[in-house]
Amino acid sequence: MMTFQSVILAALGTGALLAPLHAQTTLKDAYRDSFRIGAALGRQFYSGNDPAGAALVAAQFDSITPENDLKWEHVHPTPQGFNFDPADRYVEFGEKNHMFIVGHCLVWHSQTPRWVFQDDQGKEVGRDELLRRMHDHIAAVVGRYKGRINGWDVVNEALNEDGTLRRSPWQRIIGDDYIAKAFEYAHEADPKAELYYNEYSIENEPKRKGCVELIRKLLAAGIPVKAVGMQGHYNMEWPGVDQVDATIAAFAALGVKVNITELDIDVLPRVRPGNTADVNARAEATAAANPYTAGLPPEKQRALADRYAALFQVFLKHRDAITRVTFWGVTDKGSWLNNWPMRGRTNYPLLFDREGKPKPAFDAVIAVAKSAR
Ligand code: XIL
Repeated sequence: MMTFQSVILAALGTGALLAPLHAQTTLKDAYRDSFRIGAALGRQFYSGNDPAGAALVAAQFDSITPENDLKWEHVHPTPQGFNFDPADRYVEFGEKNHMFIVGHCLVWHSQTPRWVFQDDQGKEVGRDELLRRMHDHIAAVVGRYKGRINGWDVVNEALNEDGTLRRSPWQRIIGDDYIAKAFEYAHEADPKAELYYNEYSIENEPKRKGCVELIRKLLAAGIPVKAVGMQGHYNMEWPGVDQVDATIAAFAALGVKVNITELDIDVLPRVRPGNTADVNARAEATAAANPYTAGLPPEKQRALADRYAALFQVFLKHRDAITRVTFWGVTDKGSWLNNWPMRGRTNYPLLFDREGKPKPAFDAVIAVAKSAR
């Protein structure tokens, strides 16, 4: 006769019990009392091309952000032409899984077609025309998903590293008030949607100060900014957890919420100075900058887990201010950091490995939630 123990041992031997045991605690359940856990999704997750990936997302996350399909160049590639199909699938996927659905992003200097800023002759348009285009774009995109997309990154990355306003085509042609206008138009298109300002490197003091000033002014003018998004494109050294702590506290003190919107941790050698997440940054490919093609060494795996644990401890400390922590991707295989700022590297920035299995960093993040109970 088989004893209970022998059944367990046999099952462990086949690995049959391990998977369900592991699956017991999910990210969204571990943090349910604190904040939502989100993931940015590439199209494969909601097009039906990656059913295993879609199941992983449905099991682990309760919020989603589209990695590209709502950016201007994707959703509105030509003056007359919208391409809503992929975004429709994205929103349906979120609704089917009862998720908090984020729209990313309305006004940005990157991934915006050149025609947006030009007339038929290729001449730069003036303020009124660009405001009209911004309005019509926001009215069409936000309006289409009114009551379905729950929160929007209205303006993305408007600041320079020194905290001054970036001279983007939006700022140059319209003036500094383009930010307030974008929020007004978004609010008009869906008065119930949460509206966010999203930015990178605001952990650094000069940029943080500029951002605090910007948000303070918007709030003073009655602009309904619900939250500041800290992108969270981090590496193993930067930023210090004290910087993260101080940044969350600074925005909470203004009376806005904080979302961690694009969290990932680059474990590869730094190939560019500074801590920019500028998508237009490029670096020449070298083999020395791609050392872990055969796998991440255990001590690095451990260090990544510790780094994630330290960050989630800070997030939990600020659970009253933080409404969502979103990872920029699901598995290491799909991360943009395999191709940015250098193409073709093997990076390990997320909680799930290339097969979609939880990494030590996943266990560390779950353990932080449990230790806080
Ligand atoms: C990235 C996407 O992940 C890539 O697929 C795309 O090629 C470039 O943009 N900050 C942002 C995101 O706000 O939209 C960027 O996403 C990463 C940096």
